[in-house]
Formats: sequence, structure tokens, C-alpha cells
Amino acid sequence: MANRKPLIAGNWKMYKTGPQAAEVASRLKSLVGDIMDVEVMVAPPFTALGTVAGILKGSVIRIGGQDLFWEAEGAYTGEISAPMLKGAGCTHVIIGHSERRQYFGETNATVNRKIRAALLGGLIPVLCIGESEAERDSGQTFSVVQKQLEEGLEGFSSDDVQKMTIAYEPVWAIGTGKTATTDQAQEVHEFIRGQMETAYGNSVAKAVRILYGGSVKPENIGELMAMPDIDGALVGGASLDADSFAGIVRYR
Ligand code: 13P
Repeated sequence: MANRKPLIAGNWKMYKTGPQAAEVASRLKSLVGDIMDVEVMVAPPFTALGTVAGILKGSVIRIGGQDLFWEAEGAYTGEISAPMLKGAGCTHVIIGHSERRQYFGETNATVNRKIRAALLGGLIPVLCIGESEAERDSGQTFSVVQKQLEEGLEGFSSDDVQKMTIAYEPVWAIGTGKTATTDQAQEVHEFIRGQMETAYGNSVAKAVRILYGGSVKPENIGELMAMPDIDGALVGGASLDADSFAGIVRYR
């Protein structure tokens, strides 16, 4: 296996007020704030970014936005830009999460613009892809994932892609308690890496981290991480509690 450092990321979604986020961040800092063999990132809601960044300062835990808009500034009420995330202390930004695709009209085309904005702003994009249950049941998993990659990454160079992280999150496994089996996950991760190799060459394919997301818990992280093409996790529900998230971070 190539030398990819695992990344365990927590997506807090629309949970936690400022004080609640502060509590989790403080506890997390004491539990995994100095861990060296795994990279850790949390993505709090926008309103808690500043607070969490302040608390996690001096720790190794990185911070991400859950979304961004592609313009740097302007009259776009309600939106947040890459420079704003950067200014709030973010190093990463989640882009194209299935909940944004499902509820907020995100498409592969908007995802593409957002990735460009993230890279321009010096943020690491975490591109989320994954099939729905109906798509899996009708045998379309690979074609859906392939299209999300091709359209989401259209126009980017190998250099750009090398900076990104991909998160494979089968929609049917998100928040449902239905984790993909390790074989199901590995099969798609291997396919994604194969697509990367075809489009950007072997060294990019080997370097790009591919995270798995969907009902990851302390109990199942070990077997997922044992798969050759799974390089980490994007954790929702189980990242809201510091002790359970730390249990995932310390999977070894
Ligand atoms: P759950 O871990 O709650 O299934 O959520 C996964 C997810 O959507 C992370 O982005």
C-alpha cells in the first residue's frame, strides 16, 4: 500500500450551538489533540467555526467547512466563501455532500465550481460522491460514481487533484446504521482509485486519500481501515460525541 496517512474527519452537519461545539472541541483536544499517526479534522457548523478554531489552536486537529460558495465575496446573502473559511481557521472544506445534493440542488457542475474556489482559496476540498440505494439496486453504482468524478473534476490538472481528498459515501449507508460491508466499500474505493489512475496517472492515484463515510463507528472502523484502498473515514453521527469520535480516531 502507498504511504497514505489516514485521515479521520468528523462532519457535525447541522448540530451543535457554539457552547455545545466548544464542549466537544475541548474534550476532543484532550483526547486526540496530539495524535501523530492519524490526521484528524472536524467540520462544525459555520456559526461555531471561530469558537472551535480558538479551542483547537495548538493541537493537531484540523478544521473544515461543510460547504462554501464559489465566489470570493459579493451580494450573495447567506453564503460563505473560501477566504472566509480560511480566515476562520479552516484548512479543509467538504464539497458535494449527498445531503447538499439531495436537499439544496447541488450538482456535479456546482461541485466543480466549488472545488475550484476551494483550491484557489488554499483549502483542501473533500469531494463527496456516492450512489443512492435505488442506483445500487439497479446496478448503477460504478457508473454514478464515475460520472460524479468525471463531471466534478472536469478541467482539473493532476496537480490539483493530488491536493484533494475523496469521500465515498453510499447514500443508503448515511445515518441509517447500515454500513457498507468492507468488501462493498473496498470494491468502490478500488474503482475510484482506478478512475484516478486512468485520468491522472499512477502517482496521483496512489497519493489521493479516499475516505469511507456512512455509519462509521468505533466498532466498525478497524475492519474498514484494514482494506487496502480505504484511507480514512468521514464520520457523521458518531463524531458528535468526543469520546466516540476519539474511539474512531484511535482505531489501531
Ligand atoms: P453518518 O456517520 O451519520 O452515517 O453520516 C455520514 C456522513 O454523511 C458524513 O459526511
